[in-house]
Amino acid sequence: MTSPRIPGRRFLHSPGPTPLPDAVLHAMSVQPMDLADPRVDANIEAVERGLKGLLQTDSAEVFLYAANGHGVWEAVIENLAAPGQALLVPGTGHFSESWAVQAEALSRRIVRTPWREGWPIDAAAVEQALRDDRSQQVQAVLAVHTDTASGVTSDLAAIRRAIDAARHPALLVADVVASLGAAPFAMDALGVDVALGASQKGLMCPPGVGFIAVNGKAMAVAEQCPAPRFYWDWVRRRSEVSYRKFCGTPPQNLLFGLEAALSLIEREGLAAVWARHARLAGAVQAAIAGWREGGMVDFFAQDAASRSVSVTTIAVTAGVDVDALRATARERFQVAIAGGLGPLTGRAFRIGHLGDSNAAVILGAVAGVEAALRALGIAVGEGGVQRAVRYLAAD
Ligand SMILES: Cc1ncc(COP(=O)(O)O)c(C=O)c1O
Repeated sequence: MTSPRIPGRRFLHSPGPTPLPDAVLHAMSVQPMDLADPRVDANIEAVERGLKGLLQTDSAEVFLYAANGHGVWEAVIENLAAPGQALLVPGTGHFSESWAVQAEALSRRIVRTPWREGWPIDAAAVEQALRDDRSQQVQAVLAVHTDTASGVTSDLAAIRRAIDAARHPALLVADVVASLGAAPFAMDALGVDVALGASQKGLMCPPGVGFIAVNGKAMAVAEQCPAPRFYWDWVRRRSEVSYRKFCGTPPQNLLFGLEAALSLIEREGLAAVWARHARLAGAVQAAIAGWREGGMVDFFAQDAASRSVSVTTIAVTAGVDVDALRATARERFQVAIAGGLGPLTGRAFRIGHLGDSNAAVILGAVAGVEAALRALGIAVGEGGVQRAVRYLAAD
């Protein structure tokens, strides 16, 4: 049975996967190639170069995987710590906890700092946990830059300072899955040793490519790491032959899309991309500042400065049916939004505003969400959409 055609566009406002620009769609629309075709080499080289530019690193090596974010999480764990060795995961929400659980499933020992709901990573707690690790067992601090579930972005520079203040040799690993191509990030300047990301959020591509940038210090740790591994192994992936860097066949069409997306970002300019995301996030936040006056929805992130430019998490009062809200927004108003994850299931919904977006799209999204809230009788303050309009008009 085919469903009836929906006129117009359905807006995708999950915080990943995100909408694909036409240039990315077109770039992917090619026949696969023989692995010896020089276009394959050129594409892989362009993607590696583009990612280094986006991550702002001169020295790190880039490893590409046919994998999602969980895949590159696993690669970090397998290359930096052997079973039984320790990793520190600072709490920032569902994604930091999921990474910790994955590492525990792989027999790594996890040291956690507590997650305060609605707040970013507590750098002082990171420093204390590293000071408490007197025999310096912790191999790396695994920090999620933007926790996509809580909509909170943490201060990576503060975490770097915490590691240095504790005089601990642990590496700093940053998960920039949800922040790269949206929020300012500069790997080398921040003193990040390993950065990992995925194709489907700020990079405006379909899911399926994960990547990791590794500096010399982290590479030296990986070279000594006795953990048994093969597919994820950074050392094994160093090769002059481009397809061998994938431990097999590269995801060619996705990589053509990624090359196109990286060149869109380069052409717009990183500073302009960051400013656009800040502006659009500001418009969504302006709408929520209006809605919250109805008393039933509110910002989840308590600290305004740490509210993500990629995604906004909106807490709802008990009794609000988040699944019904999402279904109404999607089916009646053509705006797909995300639900709460982990401990926020049923307690929050999320509006993604990253990637290929602009003012008109964001205004459409907030208007669709407001219409869905009103259609379900969820009290919202007057003027949410108008505040978003005014915010954009004034900016
Ligand atoms: C910050 C962050 N890290 C990791 C992941 C895991 O990525 P994936 O769903 O591609 O496995 C996600 C997914 O949304 C994420 O938001």
